[in-house]
Parts: sequence; C-alpha cells; structure tokens
Amino acid sequence: MAREWTMENTVTSTDSNHTVIDAEDEGINPSTNTPFAEVLNARLSRRETLRAGLGLSSVAFASPLALSACGEGGRLEGEPRLGFTSIAPFKGDAVRVPEGYSARVLYAFGDPLTSSVPAFKNDGTDDPATYVDRAGTGHDGMHYFPLPGFDSDNSDNGLLVMNHENVFILGAMHENGGPTVDESGNRTELGEVVREMSAHGVSVVEISRATGRLEVVQDSVFNRRITARTEMRIAGPVGGSEFVQTAFSPDGTRTRGTLNNCAMGYTPWGTYLTCEENWHGYFKTDEATPPATKTRYGVNADTNYAWETAAEDSLYTRFDTTPTGANASEDFRNEANGFGWVVEIDPYDPTSTPVKRTALGRFKHEGCWPSRAIPGQPLAFYSGDDERGEYIYKFVTAQAYRPGLSNGSILDEGTLYVARFDANGTGEWLELSMDNPILAANFSSLAELLVNTRAAADLVGATPMDRPEWGAVNPANGEVYMTLTNNRNRGQAGQEPVDAANPRNYQADDDPQLEGNHNGHIIRWREFGDDPAATGFQWDIFLFGAPADADPDSVNISNLDETNAFASPDGLWFDPRSERGLLWIQTDDGSLREFTNNQLLAAIPGRVGDGQEVDIDGQQTFVGQQLGADALRRFMVGPAGCEVTGIATTPDGKTMFINIQHPGGELPRLELSNNWPIAEDATVDSPARDGEIARPRPATIVITRDDGGVIGQD
Ligand code: FEO
Ligand code: CA
Ligand code: CA
Repeated sequence: MAREWTMENTVTSTDSNHTVIDAEDEGINPSTNTPFAEVLNARLSRRETLRAGLGLSSVAFASPLALSACGEGGRLEGEPRLGFTSIAPFKGDAVRVPEGYSARVLYAFGDPLTSSVPAFKNDGTDDPATYVDRAGTGHDGMHYFPLPGFDSDNSDNGLLVMNHENVFILGAMHENGGPTVDESGNRTELGEVVREMSAHGVSVVEISRATGRLEVVQDSVFNRRITARTEMRIAGPVGGSEFVQTAFSPDGTRTRGTLNNCAMGYTPWGTYLTCEENWHGYFKTDEATPPATKTRYGVNADTNYAWETAAEDSLYTRFDTTPTGANASEDFRNEANGFGWVVEIDPYDPTSTPVKRTALGRFKHEGCWPSRAIPGQPLAFYSGDDERGEYIYKFVTAQAYRPGLSNGSILDEGTLYVARFDANGTGEWLELSMDNPILAANFSSLAELLVNTRAAADLVGATPMDRPEWGAVNPANGEVYMTLTNNRNRGQAGQEPVDAANPRNYQADDDPQLEGNHNGHIIRWREFGDDPAATGFQWDIFLFGAPADADPDSVNISNLDETNAFASPDGLWFDPRSERGLLWIQTDDGSLREFTNNQLLAAIPGRVGDGQEVDIDGQQTFVGQQLGADALRRFMVGPAGCEVTGIATTPDGKTMFINIQHPGGELPRLELSNNWPIAEDATVDSPARDGEIARPRPATIVITRDDGGVIGQD
C-alpha cells in the first residue's frame, strides 16, 4: 500500500505540499486506574485528612493560617513585582514584547556552527552533509551553562544547550518541499534522510559578548551537534541487559542517536539532560503480536519518516524492529528499547559520549527537573509522560547530594516512583521497584520493569493525568509545579473520568464537538517535610487555562481576563535568582488561536494550600489563590503557528533566551504566509508568501530590556 505522508499518531493535517507533525499523541493507556486509595480517601473530609496529615509533618501542610504575614491581596511581603505592562493578544507573523524590550534572532535552523560551512540558503538545496554542523530544527528545551564552569556567574560568555525535537514542517525542508518517495512511500533520496536525522537532537553552542553584543561563536571548540546518528552509552539497570541487545551492540551497552528531544533538565554537577518524548513514531514492527515494550508505547506498523527505507545500512534499517535473526543480537528487534530515556550530556566536554540514564524510567519523557540541591539530602528528579492519561514520576537518588559532585553515575542508582493524586488534596509516590511485591510478581528484573515503566505504573495504580508536560521547582521553597497541557479525552465515554487532580470536562465555546479538558491546568505539590525523598505530598491546582469570557464556575476558575488569558500551558521555568520565585509559563495551544498566537506569561506564585476547596460541576478539588492581573501578565507573543518553548536567562537575569518552534506550523497558514524570521529584529512581520513554499525557521531569540535591567521584574 502506498505510504501516505499523513503520519499516523502525530499528524494533524496535510495538504499537497506540507505536512505538519503535532507532538500530541493518541492516549493509549489501557488501564482504567481510579486509584483505590482515592476512593477511600474521598470518604474522609478535608478537615479530617488535614489533621491526619499534620500528625505526619507539622510543616508539610501550608494551611491558610500560615499566611498571616500576607500583605495586600494575600501576597507575601518582599515578593518580586512584575515590572512590565501586560501586552495585547497578537495574531501576526512576528514576535511581540512589552514596551521597553527588544527581541533579536540569535540562532536559527541552519545557522553554521563552523566557518567552513556555507551560509544557509534555506531553499532546500543546502548540502545534506553540512547539516551536522548547522543548527537543528524544532528548537525546544534549553539551558545556559556559563563558562568557564557551571558554578560561574558569567553572563557574557557561556554555552547555550538546546533540543531539536522534530522536523515538524517536513514540507519545507527539501528542494520540492516535502520528502521524495516512490509509489510505495519509500524514501528514495538518502540525502534528505541525512538532513532530517541531522536536524534532530541537541545543539551545544558557545555564545559571547566579545564583539560587543551576544553572538554565536563560530568555530568554538565547544560547538557540537548531537543527532539521531550519534553513538551513545546505555547506563543504569537496563544497560548491558538482554532488553537492549542489538546487532549493533550485542552486549546491550550502546545505541545510536537520541530522538524527539522535547524538554530537558540539568544537574547540579553541570550537565544537561535531554529527554526523549515521541520516539515511538520513528520505529515500526510487522510482528503479529508485538511485545508490550512496543505496544504500550504506540510502536506499530508505520513510521513517521520511513527512515528505515532510506538505505541498506543498519543506521537506517534499525528503525524497522521486526525480528529477522535467530536472536536479538542478530537484528534490531530491541532497537526501540534504547529510546524513551533521559540522556545526560556534558556540554563542557565536547568529546564526551552522551549517556542514557535508564534508572529514571522509560516513557515519553517530556523533561526532567531536579529538586533543590541541598547537601546531605538526596536529589529528586521530576518527570512527566506526555500523553493523554499518562503519569507523573520522580526518581530519588540513592546517594545524598554533596557539593563538588562531578559524576552523573549518581543517576544510575536510586528509586523510581509514580504519583497517585488523592481526592483529599494529598498524594502518594508509589515505588516502582522489585521491592514492591506487585511488581516482583510481574517482572523478572529491574531492567525488565524499567523497559516497561508504563506497565509497572499501571499495576501500582498511578493517577492518569491530563498530559504532563514541563515541571519546575520553586527555588524559594522546593514546591514542584507541572503543566497538564490538555486532554480532550477527560471525562469522555470509555476514557478517564474526571478526578480531583484532573477535574474539568466541559464543552468549548468555539467548538461544540470539543469536550474534556481542552485548556489545561498547572498542578503543584509540596513534599511532606519538604523532603525530596518523601513518599507523600500535598497538592493543589495553581492555575486553570481558560478563555477570559468562559464560565467562572466551571471553566475560568482562575478568573483570567483579557490581559492574561492563556490555554494549554507547556513550558514552565522558575527564575533561579528570585528569592520568592518568579514563574514563567509558555503555551502550546490551538484552542485560543482566534484570540492570540502562543505566548509567554510571567507569574508570581503563592504556595501550595493558599487557596480553597472548590466544586467544579460536582467534582471537588483544591485551587490556589487567584493571581489577578498584577501577578499574572502576558510578556511575549510569538509568530502565528509557532509554539513558544524553551527558556533560560543569563545568571544576571538581564538576557532571556526563548525558542520559537515551528513558526507558521499550523495549516492552512503555512501555505499562505510566514517566512519568519525575515530580519534580525524578531518583531519584524513576515509578509505573505502566496504561491510559494514557505520556509519559516525555528529559532532562539534573545530578549533584553532597553535600559539593561532584569527581565520581567521591577
Ligand atoms: Fe514535545 Fe509534550 O511536548
Ligand atoms: Ca512540550
Ligand atoms: Ca505541547
């Protein structure tokens, strides 16, 4: 059958020239987890549970009484103030920032990392062999590492490290737009596949103000591209196990490439964590009965890119995981088991081999965010599995953190947990190890358990969530925030019912067919005893996304107005300099597209428990204190079709880096317009491109204040 470039699982829409890939997936969790304890706890009153919880830890519960030091509006004195006026919604093909700010393009798809590579023509004819020395595409999660070392506060010279998630606008990459295929849909131009594989992965790029303003340092020894072809080591409990044996690595210790690198994390020893999200779409199998390591993650008979058809070389054929040999070391049946991990990269050592840290679990890792590094305490790393009805995880290191720690192997030993959110406003971290009798009865080893992380989480009764995306840890108090971007399945027949932590199911005003939680929310929790290794926590819902004019009782619970209305929160980042925590929120939304393009907002959060218990159409839940227009403002809007994602600042807080992913990426706009960026000034409008292949470029932009001040604050 002819392959249609309507990529199953990931495609949103196509036309003759353009294919746009949406990272959102179908939601394939077969479990119907309504946690047992949640049913039990629902019978307890909030007051009874609070009393019980206080017996466990007198500081774990931030009761409203604890906020007696609040100033006007319930805010704590000494909190940062947002030092800009909220900008208007915007639907054009450019970036918008507040008055007194500028936005400049720093690092766009195709930019050369060495002076020996020609400038990017961006007409689909650039030599495929040069793409490994150019900026990748689909810019996503990002972190700034100062030079000469991670403990420096250098804001003038550092390494910008970022993910290149996906080609997204595949119809704009090659000379004729989309990929060249034969009548069966097989790839016939190897160079095109080389381009696509090299455009995936990670960039490490040195930036410096040596010329008087911040620019990419071409030819820096640190400049590096890690791609879908780069050799990597598999460490932790799965490394060297039978589950990752392949013809390339019969001892199961190596693989090639990292895929669909979405968000990220970093470690207190100065490494970058890149996370493999929708990797399943790159692999196929023709097995009649594939193993759960494939089916539970959505690997099926199709691939998004058909890379497996590019050439008779295992660099490409490995994407077909159908068994062909006598055993696993003779074929690539296990190739997909080498993906779905957190990958550690040392940006300061350009010769280092990236390491897949398997102890942190295998799923569609959005990102991986560390708890505060406190000497003597273990570190927790928080992760979301971004698919409808999937789970939130944390990994706790066996070793305590100590300053001077320099070895990432601390990530190879520890305990993985998955979250259950209970109706009483508390939750429990459920252990995913062979010490758990339920799991010991189902898996023969920790390696098998970890390769099947989702199945293990199903067995222990984790809470299916509304698509967990980015997390962020408040540097002021250790509370953890995580976006739940949306879930149109929530509350629908045969799908997850609403619950306290995922409480909304409503009809969209703009689409009577659309129900579920299609505007998303942000949940947050505080570990009992402020201990990153705690097995229990208190939670509430920090913010609900909504249109400003939506019903305040069932949809616009957070009372958003025109100045701060948002939906589908995705990126999330705390300014590490802020004593009380300044939170930045990025959106990946289609539900408010008639109102505004995707955006970046700044918020001054309170703390878990500062709000109240509410009833949303019969579902009880706990919501944080309403922020109001003073504590939640729109700071930036991106070009039409883009997702605003990836955020970092220099240590002085005066230079902000933001990634603009797939500008023009929503049909039918791509056909009509948007070659953004067309100028160094990111705010210059891209004119319409009627009748031509539009070739917009994902890019990192730099936002600065014209008076040289700290971004976002007074
Ligand atoms: Fe790549 Fe869940 O966003
Ligand atoms: Ca995302
Ligand atoms: Ca998203």
